[in-house]
Amino acid sequence: MKLIFASQNLGKVKEVKGIFLNTPFEIVSLYDLGNNINVKETGSTFSENAFLKAKAVYDIYKEPVIADDSGLMIEQLNGKPGVFSARYAGENCSYRDNNLKVISELRNLPEPHRAKFVCVSLFLDGNEKIETIGELVGVIIKEERGSGGFGYDPIFIPDGFSKTIAELSFEEKNKISHRAKSFNKLKNILIEKFFC
Ligand code: IMP
Repeated sequence: MKLIFASQNLGKVKEVKGIFLNTPFEIVSLYDLGNNINVKETGSTFSENAFLKAKAVYDIYKEPVIADDSGLMIEQLNGKPGVFSARYAGENCSYRDNNLKVISELRNLPEPHRAKFVCVSLFLDGNEKIETIGELVGVIIKEERGSGGFGYDPIFIPDGFSKTIAELSFEEKNKISHRAKSFNKLKNILIEKFFC
């Protein structure tokens, strides 16, 4: 069964294709479809933004869609960057710009800098919407370490680890991440719904 993944983020596409590997689902990304639609994330929650992305893509293809919205929430910054994670240092900023902004905002605050990644993932077809959530808790460190993953991975150490996510292998990240937790729940619900 084909599921269109409504994302332009290559890091996410790789992770989500890995999660749905060896299942009855074929994940087709917007890249695979040659579609560079850019949905404005005007919602105030991860859930609203995930729905906006899924709906925009469903309206074009009228086929089952999955989408997600995710971000980093830092306790000492009252949950920021939150839904602004992708553009925290400004429109068109780089992952590094965002990391440096976070590091500088935390510089004078006491450690540990507790934080969590959150991912809301969503299935949408003509009949229903199914939503799941996953979280990964840990701490933010003072400098970037590692070159794997994407986004805030180089400054985030998950609880129980001594490495940043960017220092973990692709497979290690995809076992523990907020996105893996959320999409694994969604995957199991969809298998039950369509194949049991
Ligand atoms: P989205 O595409 O609107 O969900 O934006 C998510 C943003 O949150 C990304 O651009 C990253 O800045 C951050 N983010 C989400 N998931 C991750 C992750 O797995 N690692 C690092 N950063 C992430």
